[in-house]
Amino acid sequence: MSLINHVLSYIHMKRCLNDTIFNQLSEFAEEQGIRIYVIGGFVRDCLLDNPGKDIDIVVEGSGIDFARKLASRLGNIKVNYFKNFGTAMFKYKGIEFEFVGARKESYSRNSRKPIVEDGSLKDDQDRRDFTINAMALSLNKNNFGKLIDPFNGLKDLDDRIIKTPLDPDKTFSDDPLRMLRAIRFATRLNFEIEENSYKSIHNNRERLKIISNERISDELNKIILTKKPSRGIKMLESTGLLQIFFPEFQNLKGIESVDGKKHKDNFYHTLEVLDRLSVKTDDLWLRWAAILHDIGKPVTKKYDPETGWTFHGHDFVGSKMVYNIFKKLKLPLNEKMKFVQKLVLLHLRPIALVQDIVSDSAIRRMIFEAGDDIDDLMLLCEADITSKNDLKVKKYLNNFKHVREKIKEIEEKDSIRNFQPPVRGDEIIKTFQLTAGPVVGEIKDAIKEAILSGEIPNEREAAWKFMLKLGKERGLG
Ligand code: CTP
Repeated sequence: MSLINHVLSYIHMKRCLNDTIFNQLSEFAEEQGIRIYVIGGFVRDCLLDNPGKDIDIVVEGSGIDFARKLASRLGNIKVNYFKNFGTAMFKYKGIEFEFVGARKESYSRNSRKPIVEDGSLKDDQDRRDFTINAMALSLNKNNFGKLIDPFNGLKDLDDRIIKTPLDPDKTFSDDPLRMLRAIRFATRLNFEIEENSYKSIHNNRERLKIISNERISDELNKIILTKKPSRGIKMLESTGLLQIFFPEFQNLKGIESVDGKKHKDNFYHTLEVLDRLSVKTDDLWLRWAAILHDIGKPVTKKYDPETGWTFHGHDFVGSKMVYNIFKKLKLPLNEKMKFVQKLVLLHLRPIALVQDIVSDSAIRRMIFEAGDDIDDLMLLCEADITSKNDLKVKKYLNNFKHVREKIKEIEEKDSIRNFQPPVRGDEIIKTFQLTAGPVVGEIKDAIKEAILSGEIPNEREAAWKFMLKLGKERGLG
């Protein structure tokens, strides 16, 4: 590690600890005769000059007792206790503090519930996940601000390396979620995972099965929300983890060839779409739509000697797969899922409009079906335009611009996005003295169709006239 980086780290650390709260903590610890340290993510992020708002404090003694006494000294602060884990948390001046007694931990093979014993700071550092997360800053009077870094985490931070402090097989086997955390940190910080740790993830991949799907998805979502999620997903794939918790995604990988005709690798294509979309949006669910847009391809794949490879209906089949995937991964089965289903179902629509001569009615129908999600659909679809042929991409993107312009034009004219029938069902009943029944629905649909096809404008007067005409034709009223 270079001298300049050492100096910079020192400056970052001093700046992080400049807050008076650290002095208060230090004085209180001194008074109690207890030694305390800031540890983990806060230290790491502070050295990266990006301190967070969550601060983990290791107490050589009882974390719970210390937090209780400190909270009452600071004022009437509500403390949350997690006795099973020996931790206590409170919020103070917008910062989340978590106190834990220094621990020695060992894990039983089939559970990630640790068996905890009291320990020293060093014991506590030994049981941490990565060298860059095991660094501690002393808050004690005699060496306030000293970095305690037994595994050279500072060097790894400088060399941009994720590495376990102990034998990786032990660290990962103790808590297999750490395999995903390694990939998450590597993706988020743009670091490399050290070779042995990487191999160990592959070797221990089956251990992931003891982790709940909620916790897996939590990590996966964090990877998806990074700047370049493809990097993390490629690592999930190459370590064999993806196959374990998300085989449908893994199934996109591979190229088949018949009569010398190949289809594209849909796994890498999907990752390209995801990265392209991620430049434009931080919306997790829109990014999920990118991940799942072609998920129906492996099951709909066919080879026809005349036409080559086809994936007919993969949009429909894919949208039907969303529910089971969300359910298994414990993702929310609410309007977020419905949004993803809708985008997967409609993802081919804008591109079809780029290829054909665009009719107003086709655009109107797409706006009608996408509703308020039309802008997201357009973003997804634009990101879906990938090809090795730059000219082709350029041409498509240019045509896409026209589709956007058309959408704007038609929206201004017809306001179809949140279509409300211009004639209500009760008005149809009254006009033709009907009783409620299927005829009412048929008339309403016919009016909607006439608007979408452009036969009449989306206006009440035109719709009313059209309704009367329909009634006459059907001999109603
Ligand atoms: N930790 C660990 N093993 C885990 C989870 C956490 O060793 N499976 C340790 C690490 O030292 C980590 C600290 O607990 O730094 C706090 O964990 P967490 O809050 O989950 O992560 P942070 O490192 O703070 O990072 P972020 O908040 O960005 O997720």
